[in-house]
Amino acid sequence: MQKQGKEYIVFPLDFSSLKETRDFVKMLDGQVGMFKIGLELFIDQGPAVVKMVKEMSGARIFLDLKLHDISATVQRAMARVADLNVDLVTVHCSSVSMLKKAVDGGQGKTGVLGVTLLTDNDAAMVDAAGFKNDFVDDLQKLVMLRARMAKDAGCTGIVCSGNEAATIKKRFGPSFLAVTPGIRPKWAVLKDDDQKRVTTPGQAVKLGSDLIVIGRPIKDADDPVKAAQMVAAEIDSAVSE
Ligand code: C5P
Repeated sequence: MQKQGKEYIVFPLDFSSLKETRDFVKMLDGQVGMFKIGLELFIDQGPAVVKMVKEMSGARIFLDLKLHDISATVQRAMARVADLNVDLVTVHCSSVSMLKKAVDGGQGKTGVLGVTLLTDNDAAMVDAAGFKNDFVDDLQKLVMLRARMAKDAGCTGIVCSGNEAATIKKRFGPSFLAVTPGIRPKWAVLKDDDQKRVTTPGQAVKLGSDLIVIGRPIKDADDPVKAAQMVAAEIDSAVSE
């Protein structure tokens, strides 16, 4: 059966209050495929918030912890996350051995998504961090090297921009997930938007994204349910073209 448009949608629960979190989970249950819980909410509420979202909805859970530590610690942290029945967790692509241990810790219950290069890192920052000129001159090279590390370690996929998704799918195959933030439907008008290299939901899935992370265009809409439905409809029509 073909994947439905709404199954591509990951809605980030970027809230500091439990009330808002609960309101949005209730509202969007059945409209999106996944809820993303980030550091702000997880640090504030702890594992209880994962349990709450799971009890309130049938959507899958993406815990955006961006882990980075010695391999043994990451493995043990991942084992705790797997016990929470979380579906996906982010881990920085810093070494294949750490990523492998993260995958082991997930015990086949929780998949690892590699973080290649944070979008606020520019060439000057990569240079200052001591990387070779090759990578400083072409940040995409660094993204692809790190995606290769994630693939070799047995990760489920990586987080990447819509524009990188096509290359990722071509190089690493259809089952290696490309998860894409920076999604802006044409109709979304946001105040002070900080996302720069954006793609529409339709463009992202056409380029090969398996999951799109889309927050403010849905959260700040007058009718978030309708906004989520419009995103899903756009994806449905893009995949059937
Ligand atoms: O759609 P919106 O910009 O509101 O989505 C923001 C969400 O996407 C946040 O949860 C943020 O952590 C996540 N994200 C991002 N850019 C990245 C990776 C993740 O905006 N490169």
